[in-house]
Formats: sequence, structure tokens, C-alpha cells
Amino acid sequence: MALLSVNVDHIATIREARGIDEPDPVLVAGIAELAGADGIICHLRKDQRHIKDRDLRLLKETVKTKLNLEMSTVKELVDTALTIKPDMVTLVPEKREELTTEGGLDVIHNKEEYKRVTSKLKEAGISVSFFTDPDPDQIKESLNAGADIIEINTGHYCEARSESEILRHFEKINEAAKLTSKLRLKVHAGHGLNYVNIKRFSSIPEIEEYSIGHSIIARAVIVGIDQAIREMVKLVSQF
Ligand code: PXP
Repeated sequence: MALLSVNVDHIATIREARGIDEPDPVLVAGIAELAGADGIICHLRKDQRHIKDRDLRLLKETVKTKLNLEMSTVKELVDTALTIKPDMVTLVPEKREELTTEGGLDVIHNKEEYKRVTSKLKEAGISVSFFTDPDPDQIKESLNAGADIIEINTGHYCEARSESEILRHFEKINEAAKLTSKLRLKVHAGHGLNYVNIKRFSSIPEIEEYSIGHSIIARAVIVGIDQAIREMVKLVSQF
């Protein structure tokens, strides 16, 4: 039975469209937990374009399940993580101009940086996930850099349009999940997953947890947060 962590960034994005104080991602996180979410995720960017320090502080106080902070290795963000102490951190690459995270970490070429940050976070009792493409070399290097968890980037699979491309990307994820599990790291997956393209994942039991934001918030606009989350929890709990 796989778990679902819900990313609440988009709630903050709507709030910031007006620059006022609603809707509140902290309130939505509580509703998500009541609807069965196993964790709450937020991405604190250096420019705080959606999630802000205030959200992170309050989420830390209120989340009852598990708080996963996505961030890059920029010093201010690492300092914030060490102060707030979320349950886990997911390290992601970050480009200022991107709309959303565009790909996995290049651990091979930045190993010392990831190793240094990971060891600081782990010393503070925070478990560390690396967001990586389904690439065996990056995954092996992530183990060497101290990762506890690999979040496999499902973005390329979700963007593929032809059946052969979809299958090719899916097979890479399948192999990456098996390798990660063999290396005794926890396997998570996310990016671009929705209520349709996630169904195929029932055949990869190694994936313990899914990180999903956009499709849940998009559905919530139509059917409400509670129903949108319950439907996704139902799907992943069948895996
Ligand atoms: N995992 C990571 C590392 C991400 O950066 C994001 C987007 O913030 C997600 C998962 C969730 O992606 P989506 O919003 O497409 O479900």
C-alpha cells in the first residue's frame, strides 16, 4: 500500500496572485491530512515566490503526519531547514526562471556539495531525499552522497505523448525503483502525476510514496480539496 504526500505550493501561488492572506496553504494542509494524506510537502524557493518562511513555520507547528520541505542547497535555505527542522528535506535543483522543477539533481557533478548539505541535515535529525532522474549512475552517486530516500522524477514519463515513449520512460522508472530498493534506499516518486497516468504505477511495488501537487489542486478547484485528496489516496492505497 503506497502513501500519498500532498504538495500545497499551488495554494500559496493563488494567494500570491493577490498578495493577500488567502487561501492559506496551512489550512489546506490540515484538510489534506483529515482527508487521508500521509504527508505535506512545500517547496521553499529562494525568492519565496509562493511558500514563505511564515508558511513553513506554521506547517511545522501544525502538520501531524510528516512535513517534507523541498529546497535547493542554497545556504539561506539550508539554515532555514536547520532552524525549522521539518521531518524530511527533498533536495531539488532550482533555476530562478523555471515554472516548476525541471529535472533531477546532477549528483555526479556536484557530489561534494550534496554530501556536505546532506550530512548537516542528517546531523540535525532530518531525513534527506534526493530528487533524481531515473538514471542508475545518479542514483548510485546519491547513495554515496548520503541520501536516505530517492524521489524518482516521473516528469519525463508524464510529458511523453506516444505510447512507445511512455513505455520507454516508464520502464526506466521501474528499473530505477528496483535499483534504489536494492541499494536499501527508500523509493518515492513524483512530478506531473495525475489521476490517470498514476494507474500504471500499481506494477511497481518498490515505490513507497508519491509526491503530488498540481493535479490534486486542479481537481480540488472543481470538486473540493477533501474529495480530490480522498480520490488520490484511494488510488495509491491500492498499489
Ligand atoms: N516532486 C518534486 C521534487 C517537485 O518539485 C514537485 C513540484 O513541486 C512535485 C514532486 C509535484 O509535482 P506536481 O505538482 O506536478 O504533482
